[in-house]
Amino acid sequence: MPRGNLPGPRRPRLTNGEPRETFAERLDQAADMVTVALDALLPPVDGPEGRLLEAMRYAALGPGKRMRPFFFIEAGRLLEIDARSALRGAAAVECLHAYSLIHDDLPAMDDDELRRGQPTVHVEYGEATAILAGDALQAMAFEILAHEDTHESDAVRAALCQRLAQAAGAMGMVGGQMIDMGPLEADLGLVARMQRMKTGAIINFCFEGPILMSLAEEAERNALLGYAQNLGLAYQIADDILDAEGDPKHVGKATQKDVNKGKANFVTLLGLDEAKSRMTVLADQAKDYLSIFGEHRRVLCEAVDFVLDRDF
Ligand code: IPE
Ligand code: IPE
Ligand code: MG
Ligand code: MG
Ligand code: MG
Repeated sequence: MPRGNLPGPRRPRLTNGEPRETFAERLDQAADMVTVALDALLPPVDGPEGRLLEAMRYAALGPGKRMRPFFFIEAGRLLEIDARSALRGAAAVECLHAYSLIHDDLPAMDDDELRRGQPTVHVEYGEATAILAGDALQAMAFEILAHEDTHESDAVRAALCQRLAQAAGAMGMVGGQMIDMGPLEADLGLVARMQRMKTGAIINFCFEGPILMSLAEEAERNALLGYAQNLGLAYQIADDILDAEGDPKHVGKATQKDVNKGKANFVTLLGLDEAKSRMTVLADQAKDYLSIFGEHRRVLCEAVDFVLDRDF
């Protein structure tokens, strides 16, 4: 499958005989499943709009980490939701994410030419097609959620669409992107709010979605949402650290952009050491929330370690 290589050690076994898969194996499985699902859901390249469909495929099937689908599927496992429902939710959130990256890279926004080790969508297909491919991927996310294959309950499907709309819109990702465009005061509280909106809101949805699809108890809901809140902020700080000290060959996108553009984030405001220690605190808090799940929390805890230590 077209994605970054992760180490995949052999599979040790738990004493009770259950297969004990590593985080890397579970991420691989989720990434493969969602890539196959997206390939089937995306329209084939055909007709006078073929260039749009090709650009959508280029963006959605490109070699990303597929972390958001992984989170959706893993939360779904913990809450024992139907695997097909989880996979469709995961596909929807990856479409939304792919759209956000296309628009984030546009000349009017971050003006980036490299994404996931490949030319950005506007470089490959032109700006008009890139804007339209983003628009269409966003619409597709809602089409997937609203389809009856996603969940048997009309009310659950409506709630999924509403929550993703809130997470993606002016109070969530797009609002955060607006704040990011600046001018942004060097105010840590505001930066934290921006990061929670632009990145945290969609990551939260990866847990809110499975919760909506499940019969989760309040303690389980609170645990997953507490994990998601801390993880979302840590995720963007890790991205900002990679921008400051990552190697573009591994990261798959240009680095040193934030400081050059005068962007305010935890790294540019606090320096690398302080940003790293705040990220570690958030990571520990995220893991603590999962204690109610016992041994079942292991893979989501290892995911936090990966988010912190990744070099891409
Ligand atoms: C990049 O997200 C943009 C952020 C919100 C931090 P990812 O680091 O998850 O990007 P891909 O999907 O793996 O390319
Ligand atoms: C983007 O943040 C967050 C989105 C909502 C897409 P960045 O602008 O830092 O993401 P990268 O570094 O380009 O992936
Ligand atoms: Mg940006
Ligand atoms: Mg960017
Ligand atoms: Mg970045």
